[in-house]
Amino acid sequence: MKVDVKYTKLFINNEWVDAVSKKTFPTINPQDESVITQVAEGDKADIDVAVAAAKKAFHRYSEWRLLDASERGRLLLKLADLVDRDVQYLAELETLDNGKPVKNAVGEISWAANIIRYYAGKADKILGNTIPADGEVMSFTLKEPVGVCGQILPWNYPIPMFIWKIAPALAAGCTTVVKPAEQTPLTALAMAALVKEAGFPPGVVNVVPGYGPTAGGALTHHPDVDKVAFTGSTEIGRVIMKAAAEVNLKRVTLELGGKSPLVIFNDADVEKAALLAHRAAFANAGQCCVAGTRTYVQSGIYDKFVAKAAEIAKKRSVGNPYQDVDQGPQIDKEMYDKVMGYIESGKKTARCVAGGARYGTAGFFIQPTVFADVKDDMKIAREEIFGPVQSILKFETFEEIVDRANDSNYGLGAGVVTNDIATALAFVKHVRAGSMWVNTYEHVAVQTPFGGFKESGIGRELGEDGIQQYLENKTVTINLPKKPLI
Ligand code: NAI
Ligand code: MG
Repeated sequence: MKVDVKYTKLFINNEWVDAVSKKTFPTINPQDESVITQVAEGDKADIDVAVAAAKKAFHRYSEWRLLDASERGRLLLKLADLVDRDVQYLAELETLDNGKPVKNAVGEISWAANIIRYYAGKADKILGNTIPADGEVMSFTLKEPVGVCGQILPWNYPIPMFIWKIAPALAAGCTTVVKPAEQTPLTALAMAALVKEAGFPPGVVNVVPGYGPTAGGALTHHPDVDKVAFTGSTEIGRVIMKAAAEVNLKRVTLELGGKSPLVIFNDADVEKAALLAHRAAFANAGQCCVAGTRTYVQSGIYDKFVAKAAEIAKKRSVGNPYQDVDQGPQIDKEMYDKVMGYIESGKKTARCVAGGARYGTAGFFIQPTVFADVKDDMKIAREEIFGPVQSILKFETFEEIVDRANDSNYGLGAGVVTNDIATALAFVKHVRAGSMWVNTYEHVAVQTPFGGFKESGIGRELGEDGIQQYLENKTVTINLPKKPLI
């Protein structure tokens, strides 16, 4: 498959520029480990230029700030249409850089285009309150854009993450500097070209590829950045909060790791539940923050469930992501090694009933792997693996499973499969996670907030909450005597 890579430079002020240092870095095709192309490598000097552009674009009399809110919405609608127009190209480019099957990329990108539309509609519906304040006053609030945003992206869903970040920020009237993950810079640059084509003024969206500690670190440490939005590891989430605290108390929203439980009760249909749990664990080759990686099954159906789960995993098709497969390669050598390390650990401690090895001889492919008889204290039950690995654990009672589901420093997602409404609602009430699914899993809609409890993050994306995180609340209080003046 030949995909035309059109953009490899930094995108600043609606222009394509080399890095100040002139440095470039390779981006790798995870399917065969070949270098796709060299990309301009941004670092602190480039972030300084990009932030200056975003700051200028946020100036009170800039073209962007003088636009009517509805006009911001119209620009976003245009962008959504351009994404739809180019969906096949964007998907093939995403597959080249990320390795996910093209058919999945097409679905994700079309879904994400509607996220742009959702926030386009919100641009001129950002409402404050009028408040009956004590005293001889009239008070109301204005919701104002937070300012210049730094948006740091992961590599697992590059285009959707780009859109989750920029769409609410732009609808709110912010300007932004986006740093895509070093593994997947290409589609962020292709999206930047569409931003320009849609007609956004210069400096409103800037895209600076580069590495985390250099380009990412420069963004999080920049005194003129008012907010950082980040999706990635809990480890780097901490680094970002610390930088924000030390420099300027910039606002921080974080969407971090997970080790989400999916709990299946005895009354479930085993076949359907096994398929649901399979999809929850293996979507996107397991490279999904909210993956249902702890599959808890009640003892009455446990053996039947394990057999079914192994059977489905063995049938999962792995291979060339440009063909009709379920699973492509892992993103890079580092993640491949990390996941294989967890698989080795699992083989020593639990019972491997499917997979457990590399797939093929080239690229970063891993067999869909299922472990049964996993115990809560095993490494594979506690740590985020971020690969095609399902851990199945047995449980007996409701009381026990609520405590076990909650026994994690993460709290991103949780699912329950049962036909008993009381069990389902009690589970929803007592388990602590940002997204709870009943008889479904990983249903993420643009209208509903998404984010984590505990160490899975701070703040929410999508829905009304998603745009609020890009707004400051300004209280206005006006002296107004209670008795008439005349
Ligand atoms: P990471 O958190 O290091 O990288 C995510 C983004 O942060 C990338 O753009 C990276 O360049 C940037 N970054 C890295 N260090 C930074 C720093 N010091 N300052 C500012 N930005 C920085 O994640 P990585 O290394 O790709 O994967 C490690 C683990 O993180 C995975 O095994 C997985 O468990 C988790 N992860 C979670 C994701 C999610 O969707 N929540 C997405 C990607 C990874
Ligand atoms: Mg990292």
